[in-house]
Amino acid sequence: STGRTAIIAGNWKMNYGPREAAKFVQEIQPALSEALQAPGSPLCILCPPAISLAAVRAVLDIPDAASSAQIELGAQNMYFEEKGAFTGEISPNMVHELCTTVILGHSERRTYFGETDELVNKKTLAALRHELRPIVCIGENEQQHESGETAHIITTQVRASLANLTSEQAREIVIAYEPIWAIGTGKAATGEIANNVIRQIRQEYQAIYGAEAASVVRILYGGSVTSDNIAEFMAYPDIDGALVGGASLKPDFINIVRNSR
Ligand code: G3P
Repeated sequence: STGRTAIIAGNWKMNYGPREAAKFVQEIQPALSEALQAPGSPLCILCPPAISLAAVRAVLDIPDAASSAQIELGAQNMYFEEKGAFTGEISPNMVHELCTTVILGHSERRTYFGETDELVNKKTLAALRHELRPIVCIGENEQQHESGETAHIITTQVRASLANLTSEQAREIVIAYEPIWAIGTGKAATGEIANNVIRQIRQEYQAIYGAEAASVVRILYGGSVTSDNIAEFMAYPDIDGALVGGASLKPDFINIVRNSR
């Protein structure tokens, strides 16, 4: 065993406003909580749209965002400044009132909203300053995958998005490897491909932050994960869980949690 507690996170993307989000969580919570009682269960993190976080939190009845509830909440994005004239943005301290976690640098943010490694790095450092657990997403696109550039892309993204962490911070972050060609396509990577890239990410991480940080940092796979393929990914030693998109919007998400053990 690696000693790393697995994480199954649901990235709802732009789905479920407050009403639908509350209804869905009410529907899945009893079975999800029960599934999470089993020994060896992962940490489960739900990441609804920001506007639905409070409604989900009210349903889950979490007393304190930082408490060790079985189900934690995460935001899908945030800005790095504390407050001020940044129309449309939410700050790390706002996220921290409701969440333990924040997804940063998702490929959809990078592709549609122009986020760069430099911005993702600023957000990562801001999250850590506010005691939020960043899940930092990296991954190559289809063309880069086909032309054998994956290792190079991964190295660049790790070095730039995850720059300037302290040794303590380097242990706390979570990395999600999401090959863009596998996101929302139904064409998941194989466990072998995902594990190979994740091993490279861990090696790169070791080169920057040392063996200790590399042995504790959790690295997730994301891209068309379902209750049918989760076990294949979890069977590989370097894969510490999954960031689930489409399949986190249905009650079958509970089976992903179950089958991850
Ligand atoms: O962040 C999760 C993600 O991008 C994967 O989405 O729908 O392929 O599971 P999906």
